[in-house]
Amino acid sequence: MSYWLWDTSLSVGIDVIDAQHRRIIDYLNELEVAKESADRDTVSEVLAGLIDYTRTHFLFEEELMTQAGYTLSDEHKATHDAFTAQMINYVRQHESGRDVTRKLMSDLRIWLTNHIKRDDKDYARSVSKIINKGWVRKTRDSFFG
Ligand SMILES: [Fe+2]
Repeated sequence: MSYWLWDTSLSVGIDVIDAQHRRIIDYLNELEVAKESADRDTVSEVLAGLIDYTRTHFLFEEELMTQAGYTLSDEHKATHDAFTAQMINYVRQHESGRDVTRKLMSDLRIWLTNHIKRDDKDYARSVSKIINKGWVRKTRDSFFG
């Protein structure tokens, strides 16, 4: 049983963004498995992957918003930055031996659900106007390549 399953209520209507959100959710499910196995090294590895992927995803979204001339991109970036700082804080606590995995998972799930449904869906109309397959491929490869 997965910790969290993506469903269409989380779709922003842009395939490349939905795929990235689904990958973040997959990371949380991997974290659940690692946590259940009580293997600290695996938890550390999944956490590192999760943080790295999420930061790259945020940068990708920020590039899309800038390119689209989305008016609230500064506010959106500030929200990303604040949440990134919170996740890094959890990783530091994990590294110092505290068991914060569950708290991180539930915070990320609540934060991402609200963020997708409110903030990401808000930029989708602007961003979908500039998006086309060639442009997405080039931009995605430059971030995730
Ligand atoms: Fe976002």
